[in-house]
Amino acid sequence: MLALIGGTGFENDGIITDCDEVLVETPWGAPSAPLVFGCLGGEEVIFLRRHGARHEWAPHRIPYRANLWALKKAGATGVIGVGTVGGIGEAMTAGTLMVPDQLLDYTWGREHTYYDSPEAGVKHIDFTLPFDENLSGLLVRAARRTGNTIVEGGCYACTQGPRLETAAEVQRFARDGANVIGMTLYPECALARELELPYAGLCVSVNSAAGLRESRKVIRFEALAEAVNRAVAGAVEVVREALRLERELREENGLA
Ligand code: HPA
Repeated sequence: MLALIGGTGFENDGIITDCDEVLVETPWGAPSAPLVFGCLGGEEVIFLRRHGARHEWAPHRIPYRANLWALKKAGATGVIGVGTVGGIGEAMTAGTLMVPDQLLDYTWGREHTYYDSPEAGVKHIDFTLPFDENLSGLLVRAARRTGNTIVEGGCYACTQGPRLETAAEVQRFARDGANVIGMTLYPECALARELELPYAGLCVSVNSAAGLRESRKVIRFEALAEAVNRAVAGAVEVVREALRLERELREENGLA
């Protein structure tokens, strides 16, 4: 069964149904919220509210290690991480979806590995491609099948937050090769890799990054509500279809 980590769009009433909420503990503490065993469009999913049930966890404080550990323990076979982003290039204006295939990490001090004690030992995961290609491809196929435009591939810059960036920082990230900026997919994707859990990102652009286009002087999320709501609804459709595709594939392979 696939797991979904997200918030915006998936927490509304009636999106995830038939829910069973389970409080869990892990060697890394409690996850951000109880695990929700439910259905999205009739497809089973384990949903985790990344920022907590009351949106209390800031990006740099999210218990990422507990979150991924809990999902693995609950039997997740892969994780879709949905995150809002600020877009850099014209292709990523507010309201656009993207499945990233690369990552730049600008965070610091986050608990980003399970291998940080002599007891755990040392492990160097391969991270050449930080997102799982098959699961990312599934999201792209799901977007096509539902008629949602999606940018296939791109570089996700993860910042520490919770503040947004300066215009100069955005210029630097653009020079480094970033296409979108968010605050949460790292260390999620690295921890998933350590646990050998396939992980794909689904980015929802909710603004142009600081200093660009409509955000030239200030970022006003309110002004973009309509485009954002459309993109969020698109993301829900894409995930729903991806869950269906994944089940069909499992059934075809006799693994269901
Ligand atoms: N920067 C970082 N994270 C974000 C942004 C942004 O502009 N928009 C949404 N999440």
